[in-house]
Amino acid sequence: MSLADIFDKYPDRRYIMYGGKGGLGKTTFSAATAYYLAKKGKKVLVFSVDPQASLSDIFERDIFGKGNIEIMPNLFACEVDADRRVQDYQEEIRRKIIDMYGMKKIPEEIESYIKASSAEPAMEESAIFDAVVDIVVKSDFDYYIYDLVPLGHALYYLSMASIYDAWLDKITGLREQMREYDQAIATMQREEQTSEDQIYNELVYIKERIGQSSKIMTDTKKTAFFFVLTPEEMTIVDTEKAAGLFAKYNVPLAGYLVNRVISRDLLNENIPEYLRNRIQMQAGALEMIDQKFGSTVHARVPEFDSEIKGLDTIKKLAEVMFEEKLS
Ligand SMILES: Nc1ncnc2c1ncn2[C@@H]1O[C@H](COP(=O)(O)OP(=O)(O)OP(=O)(O)O)[C@@H](O)[C@H]1O
Ligand SMILES: [Mg+2]
Repeated sequence: MSLADIFDKYPDRRYIMYGGKGGLGKTTFSAATAYYLAKKGKKVLVFSVDPQASLSDIFERDIFGKGNIEIMPNLFACEVDADRRVQDYQEEIRRKIIDMYGMKKIPEEIESYIKASSAEPAMEESAIFDAVVDIVVKSDFDYYIYDLVPLGHALYYLSMASIYDAWLDKITGLREQMREYDQAIATMQREEQTSEDQIYNELVYIKERIGQSSKIMTDTKKTAFFFVLTPEEMTIVDTEKAAGLFAKYNVPLAGYLVNRVISRDLLNENIPEYLRNRIQMQAGALEMIDQKFGSTVHARVPEFDSEIKGLDTIKKLAEVMFEEKLS
C-alpha cells in the first residue's frame, strides 16, 4: 500500500512520527509529509525537540525556540528549545516555593538543590517531555508530525513509564526536601494545608497530562509510527531490533519507508564502477527488506542529487514519497 493510501485509509491517525537511526531521513520525511498534508488542505504542525535545529535547516528559516512558525499556508513548524524549557521549569519551581511558603527569597540550600537537579538528564528529559505534552494536548491542528531524534533517544522518550517516574520523583523529592526545611522556616507564616493541596493538585494535573499524551502516542487509532531506513544490511538489522523494542512500548508501528534508493536504470548507462557496486549492494538489501518487512514498506524514495532543503526540493520529495503531483 502506498503512503498516500495509508493516510487516506486512516484519517484518524493524526499523530505521525518518523523514527530511525541517525541521519537516514527522519527530518526530511517529516518536512515532506507536513508539506504534502498542508497541500491537501490539512492544518499541520511539524515539531522537534532536537537541539540541532534541523527543521530550521530544512525550511531555511530560523525557528528555534520561537514557538509555532507558519512556513506556508497550513504548514507550521516548531523547534523546542530544551535548555530554555529547563530554565523556565526551574523558575516555575522557584516561584511556586516562594508563593506557597510566602518567602521573599529561595533559601540557599533549596536553590542549590534546584541547580543540582537541572544537571541531571532526567530534568532535561522531563522538560522536553513536558514540552511535547504541551504541543500534543493542545489539539488545534489536524496533524502533528513529531520529528524524532535518533533511535536510542527516541526510545527513551517513548518509555513513558520511566519518564513519568522521573517526573514524579523530581516533584516528590522536592516536596520531601521542603519538609526537611519545614523546621528551618517554621518561624515563617505558612499555610500548610493550602500548600499541600497545591502540590497534590500539581501532581494530579501532571499525571493527567502524561496519561493523556501517552494514550495518544500509543493509540493505534490516532498514531502512526513509521521507520525510516536505507538499503544497507546493517541498517536493516538495527531497524528490525529497534522495531522489536518499540513494540514493547506499544508504539503502533505503521510501516517502513526506504530512503536513498539509487535508480537501477543507471546500470544501463556509462557509470563509474563504485556506483555500479552500490546499486548492486542496494539490490541485495532491498530484497532483504522485502523479505523482512514485505507489504509494510510504504515507499521507496530515491537518492536525490542534492541536499533536501527549501520548499521547492521538499515539494519534489513529497511528490515522489506520496506518488502524487502537487500544485
Ligand atoms: N533521498 C535523499 N536524497 C538525498 N539526500 C537526502 C535524502 N534524504 C535525506 N537526505 C539528506 O541526508 C541528510 C540527513 O537527513 P535528515 O536530516 O532528514 O536525517 P535525520 O534522520 O533527521 O537525521 P538525525 O538523526 O540527525 O535527526 C540531510 O542532509 C538530507 O538532506
Ligand atoms: Mg533529524
